[in-house]
Amino acid sequence: MTATLIDGKAFAANLRERLAGEVAKMQAEHGVTPGLAVVLVGDDAASAVYVRNKGEQATAAGMHSVTHRLPAETNEADLIALVQTLNADPAIHGILVQLPLPKGLNPDRVIAAIDPDKDVDGLHVINAGRLSAGLPALTSCTPVGCMLLLKDRLGDLSGMRAVMVGRSNLMGKPMAQLLLAANCTVTIAHSRSKDLSSICREADILVVAVGQPEMVRGDWIKPGAVVLDVGMNRVPSKDPVKAAAGGTRLVGDVAFEEAAQGASAITPVPGGVGPMTIACLLRNTLEACARLHGLPTPVL
Ligand code: GUN
Repeated sequence: MTATLIDGKAFAANLRERLAGEVAKMQAEHGVTPGLAVVLVGDDAASAVYVRNKGEQATAAGMHSVTHRLPAETNEADLIALVQTLNADPAIHGILVQLPLPKGLNPDRVIAAIDPDKDVDGLHVINAGRLSAGLPALTSCTPVGCMLLLKDRLGDLSGMRAVMVGRSNLMGKPMAQLLLAANCTVTIAHSRSKDLSSICREADILVVAVGQPEMVRGDWIKPGAVVLDVGMNRVPSKDPVKAAAGGTRLVGDVAFEEAAQGASAITPVPGGVGPMTIACLLRNTLEACARLHGLPTPVL
C-alpha cells in the first residue's frame, strides 16, 4: 500500500471535542444549550443503532438530546404533527427524521414539514436550493464531513477534477455542490453512466457513494488521487467457516487494497467517512442553534 490512511475516526473524535468546548462556551456566555431531536419510526435494526449513537454523542457533547421512537404503523399525519411540535419547541434547534421511513410514509412530505432552519440533515428543498444558489444553508452531514477531510488533506481544492459517483439527495448531489463551491471541476457519475472507470480515472478527488461492495477497482484510480469511500456494505466473512456460520465483514464501495496502491490518500471502511456523519450532525445542530439565537456561528 502506498496511500496514506485518512483517519476519519480520529478526526471526528477531535471535532466532537471542539464542539463540546463550543457548546460549553455558548451555555456560559449566552445561557443557550443546543438541542437535537431525532425521530425514528419503525424497528429497522441498523437505523436503531444509528439513532442511539446520535443521541449518545449529542449528550456527550453537552447538548440537549431527545429521541422519539414511534411504531412502524404510525400514520403520516401523526408523524407530521410531531415534526410541527418540534418546530415550535424553543429547546430544539435540530430535527432529524431517520430514513428510510417505513412503507406508507412519504419522506418528501415529512421532510417538507421540517422547519428549514432546524433541518440539520439539509434535506428540505429550501436548504437544497440555498446550497445550489451559494447561500448559507444547513447541508447534509456526510458531505460536510467529506469536505472537512478533503480540506484537511489538500487545503485549497481550486481547479481540481472531482468525480462524485452517486447522485442521492443525502450524499451525491450536496457533495457535488460543495465541491463546486470549493472551485473543483465536478462530474457526477451514477449507475447509468457509460464507461464509469474512465470517468473515475480523471479524478484528482474521487468520492464514491453507490452501495455496491468494492465496485471501484484499483485501475480506476488516477495515480495520486484522494479517494473517499462512503460505502458501508455488509458481505460474507472471508473465512469460509465463519461465513457458513453467518459471519460478515464491512466493506466500502471501493476495493480498498487495490485502490490504496495508486491513491495518495484513502479512507478505510470502517473508520473513514462514517464517523464524520454524526460529528457533522452535531456541528449542524450547533450552527442551527447559533443562527436561531442570532449568535456568531463557531467555525469548526
Ligand atoms: N439514514 C442513513 N443516513 C441518514 C442520514 O444522514 N440522515 C437521515 N435522516 N437518515 C439517514
